[in-house]
Amino acid sequence: MANEIKTEIREHVGIITLNRPEKLNALNYALMTQVIEALERFDADTNVRCMLIAGSERAFAAGADINEMADASMVEMHHRNMFGRWDRIKKIRKPIVAAVSGYALGGGCELMMCCDIVIASETARIGQPEINLGIIPGAGGTQRLIRAVGKARAMDLILTGRMITADEALAMGLVSRVVPAEQWFEEALKLCQELCEKAPMALQAGKDAVNSAFETTLTEGIEVEKKLFYMLFATDDQTEGMRAFVEKRKPVFVGR
Ligand code: COA
Repeated sequence: MANEIKTEIREHVGIITLNRPEKLNALNYALMTQVIEALERFDADTNVRCMLIAGSERAFAAGADINEMADASMVEMHHRNMFGRWDRIKKIRKPIVAAVSGYALGGGCELMMCCDIVIASETARIGQPEINLGIIPGAGGTQRLIRAVGKARAMDLILTGRMITADEALAMGLVSRVVPAEQWFEEALKLCQELCEKAPMALQAGKDAVNSAFETTLTEGIEVEKKLFYMLFATDDQTEGMRAFVEKRKPVFVGR
């Protein structure tokens, strides 16, 4: 299998760079397999506290690889189950930050929505253009988009296939922050380094609690939150965090 991504660990940040720039990082089977396996490897590595997924300056990812699907029959697509593996991203417990510059289209937008915090360059162009190919999003796009931006906007994007700017995406709540073009990667990395200074168990609990809002009722979600909140009182990092506040110093979290 060709190397479709690059990975490295920089000061507790597990960095995954999509590496098919000449194809605008179109998400072929090998690339997505490597992304998912890298996320799982970083999730299991106690030296890694959060992950960063980046594309290139021109494209985060311009969607699923159309060449891989163009001639497929319905039965082949059924057996291939190309999006089945994406469910594994949902099981990643550490925070994932997306650094988005240029195109984030189709599967690229869906991958972006699987991440927890999205830093978008002012150059970002985001959309679900599948309708223009005679299909619809298949990696959770219809479901995640409506939860992120509401029905009216999700319908607009999915039925017209139009691309939106970073500022429009920010106004909709689809990305977390918009940054100047030349700083898209540095700002995302800086955010990851900031996350690495937090208590790792609290980061994971925060992610878990927020995500439970998507899966459960308000009452159940609040129960999940309460249990996670109390659970954190079993960690050394809670003791350290509160003691450091009282002693007027910066806490040093160790991940226990
Ligand atoms: N799948 C496969 N290849 C893709 C791709 C995709 N989703 N998106 C871009 N590419 C390839 C192009 O085929 C081209 O390859 P080539 O140089 O071998 O011909 C290369 O990436 C550059 O793309 P190109 O179309 O020449 O760039 P552009 O600047 O003119 O247009 C886009 C950029 C993003 C508007 C255009 O590439 C596009 O519409 N891509 C498809 C987006 C899409 O429908 N995604 C959903 C897929 S389900």
